[in-house]
Parts: sequence; C-alpha cells; structure tokens
Amino acid sequence: MSNNLFATKSVEKLIKESESGEHNLRRTLTATNLTMLGVGAIIGAGIFVLTGTAAANAAGPAIVISFIIAGLGCLFAGLCYAEFASMIPIAGSAYTYGYATLGEFIAWIIGWDLILEYLFGAATVAVGWSGNFVSLLKSIGITVPAAIAAAPLAYDGSSFTATGSFINLPAIILILVMTALLVIGIQESAKFNNIIVIVKVAIVLLVIGFGFQYIDPSNWTPFIPDKEVLADGATRYGWQGVVAGAAIVFFSYIGFDAVSTAAQEAKNPQRDMPIGMLTSLGICTLLYVLMSLVMTGLVPYKMLNVPDPVLVALQAAGPALSWLYFFTGLGAVAGLASVVLVMLMGQPRIFYAMSRDGLLPAVFGKVHPKFNTPYVTTIITGVVAAIIAGIFPIGLLGELVSIGTLLAFVIVCAGIILLRRTSPDLKRPFKTPFVPLVPILGILICGYMMVNLGFDTWMRLIIWMAIGIAIYFLYGRKHSKLRQQNEAPETDRVTVG
Ligand code: ALA
Repeated sequence: MSNNLFATKSVEKLIKESESGEHNLRRTLTATNLTMLGVGAIIGAGIFVLTGTAAANAAGPAIVISFIIAGLGCLFAGLCYAEFASMIPIAGSAYTYGYATLGEFIAWIIGWDLILEYLFGAATVAVGWSGNFVSLLKSIGITVPAAIAAAPLAYDGSSFTATGSFINLPAIILILVMTALLVIGIQESAKFNNIIVIVKVAIVLLVIGFGFQYIDPSNWTPFIPDKEVLADGATRYGWQGVVAGAAIVFFSYIGFDAVSTAAQEAKNPQRDMPIGMLTSLGICTLLYVLMSLVMTGLVPYKMLNVPDPVLVALQAAGPALSWLYFFTGLGAVAGLASVVLVMLMGQPRIFYAMSRDGLLPAVFGKVHPKFNTPYVTTIITGVVAAIIAGIFPIGLLGELVSIGTLLAFVIVCAGIILLRRTSPDLKRPFKTPFVPLVPILGILICGYMMVNLGFDTWMRLIIWMAIGIAIYFLYGRKHSKLRQQNEAPETDRVTVG
C-alpha cells in the first residue's frame, strides 16, 4: 500500500495521456508570448510595494543585494524548471514533474501547495491592485468609497476584527473580468497580457531612466546599515537583514514558473519553455536591481516604508519628475493586473492535470469545445479567488504565497537530481547545467529564504498541507487512475520509487 503512494508515472505515459482525450488544449503560444506571460506574472506588487518596506525594515540600501540573492535562488530553480518543462511539456507544472519523479503522493502535495502560489497569489495581488486602482482614480478626482473598496476583515496577528468596510469590490471585479478573458481563450489572454506588459515595463524603464539622474549617492551610505535590535527583540539591517530582505522580495520573482503551466498550449514547448522562463526571469532581475538602486538612491531608505514607495522616491526629485507620478500609479495598476491574469491562468491548468490523473473530479478536466480552455476550473478558480480577495486583507496572505512557492522550487530542484539518477537516458531538450551543484544551490538558497519567513507563516503552511493530505486520503487515493490501472491485471508499467 505505502509503495503505491510513491508510484510514478513514466514521462512517456504522461505525454501520451496528455495527447489523448476528446478535447485538448490548443497549441498556439510562441516564445515571445511565453516570455511576456513570464514578465506579466513577475513584475507586480513585489517591486511596486514590497521593495520599500523591505528596504526600510530589513536591509536598507542593501535591498539591492537582497534582490540579487532572491534572483539567484530563482535562477537555480528556474534552470531546473526549464529542464522539466522541456522534457515533460504538458500542463501541470511542478505537480506533473512530481508525478514523474517522486510519485503520486508527493505530486498531490506539490499540486495542493501550488494553490497557495496561484489561487492565493491571484487573490493577494488583486487586493494590492484594488488599493492602487483606488489611489489612481483618486489622483484624477474620482473617489471610491472605502466601504466597497477595502477588506471587511483586518488581522492583527492573532484575531480578526471588522474594519467597517463591506467588501473589496474592485478586487472582485478585476478577478471576474480576468476569469472571463481566460475562459474565452488563451491567445486572447496572451494578447491582452502583451499590452499590459508593454505598459508596465515602459513605466519601470521611465522610472529607472529619469530617476537615475536625480540620485543622491549619499543615500547609499551606509549601504548595509548596522544591525539594530528592536523593542520586541526582532532585528533588522546587517547581513541578517539582507537575507531577511531576500525572503521578503522573493515575492517579486514569483510567476516565472507560471510559464510552465502553459506548456500544453505552447507551439514548440521543448525549445520555448526554457526561453520563456529564463528570459523573463533575466529581464525582471535586471529591472529589479536597477529599480531598487534608483529608489534607495533617491531618498533615505527609512522613508520608503509606505504602500507607494516608488511615488515617494520620485517625489524626492522635486517637481522635475512630477509628470511621472500618474504613470507610476498606472504602472502599478497595469503590473498587478497582469500578475492576477497569469496566476489565474496557471491554477486551472494544474487542476486540469490533477483531474486527468483522477486526483480531482473529472469535471475539473473539462475543456471548452469552442474556446479550448479548461473553463470549469478557470471559473472555479476565479470564483474562489474573488471571494478570498473580497474579504481578506493582503498582509495575511502574502508570506503564505511565498512559502508555498519556495517549497515547490525546493521540490523541483530535488526532482532534477533524482530523475537524472533514475532515468538518465530520457530525452532532455534543455539540460540544467552543473547538476547536482545548481539544484543543490537552488535548494539551499530557497530553503534558507523559507527559514527566514515567520513562524505564523510556517504554521499556516503546515495546516494547509494537513488539509491537503486529508483530502488525498479521502478522495484522491481512491480515485487515482494510476492506482486503478495498477490494480487491474496486465497494466501499464509502474516504477516504484
Ligand atoms: N511577482 C508577483 C508580484 O510581485 C507575484 O506581484
């Protein structure tokens, strides 16, 4: 029995199964589309909101180094994702890679964990989007009442309190609009994403280009401020602060892996998956390092502890950059919207793969006969994300999204080492360089960032995982197609790990 938990599906079988079936996802996405989806998912709340808090409360100007550390962790994990995505170019991302290497039970755990990244990620960023959108409207004279534009619940670290608001309507509307777009078509969604990505990258480049001219280098000294012990015993700054900062800004990188969820809709996945993931990651790392240098160069880092740090940094340049204020708001609104779009694209494709394997009900695997999209899971994801975004505050969810994603990265890195041993002869169109060094470094850096996330976040992760394990034993294990095949005579070959 326990062996069955770790039964793996061969890569050949996974690919064959993905090609059978009445309605399949349609292969329409190019390398450019995939790269744009990556950038669409990456640049968002992280750079527009978290950079400021992380500089002020953890690393100081050395937040630049935090971005490099987090970027390296993502690069190592990204190289491992790229090998898997080129080798197993079907929907499901890390869930599917887990099924091929570590067995059904771990695959379920990864799939369940990825809900934190995608569904909760979409809800979290939608809440951030709502705040930015309301401010942008205010800047042009339109006021949205707080009663319909903020979470009705606030969390003070131990309990929920009522805020007086009823609902976060803008967040709900954004999610529902994106959901509708995703149901209509992956290509339509990719086109829409391309437009917003161009807008947000252009605005980030404007901030970097014009901001650079007004930098006061004295703001970078000391680059790593001395360690301070706060009243509650917590510490900030110093090298420890730099690493803590990396764990915070890791959130800004989340999303390049979302490209891999669209593997089954890529025209040439073997070649284009690695291009999409690694190029988008490279572009964003460069933009983040430059942007954080500009922001900490424009103002003393302690002033950045605000929800709109880019704006505060630009204001330090005086009236010369006031024309950029509106665009900064627009960049954040565009940026966060595309993150929500790509996250809402990723989740249904993971559910789709889980349903194909029998771990979720068959209805989750339905593909729309006309639009060729996994419309049932897209709608379910959208509705649940909209409910969460309409009710909960952003702070409660952000770190949970990061820890869930980091866990998936660690497992994917471990999977590469394992699959190189168990199936050395598989065709690998893209090979992670320097195995096992690169995956080991990925595990160490991502693992270390996990350790730097708070105790509360760990507890939430453990509770979430316990719920997932219970669901697996109550439903997935009984309905698993692989188990059913194995229990029938003369079945497909199963490798037992
Ligand atoms: N990387 C995404 C963001 O920063 C999740 O919003």
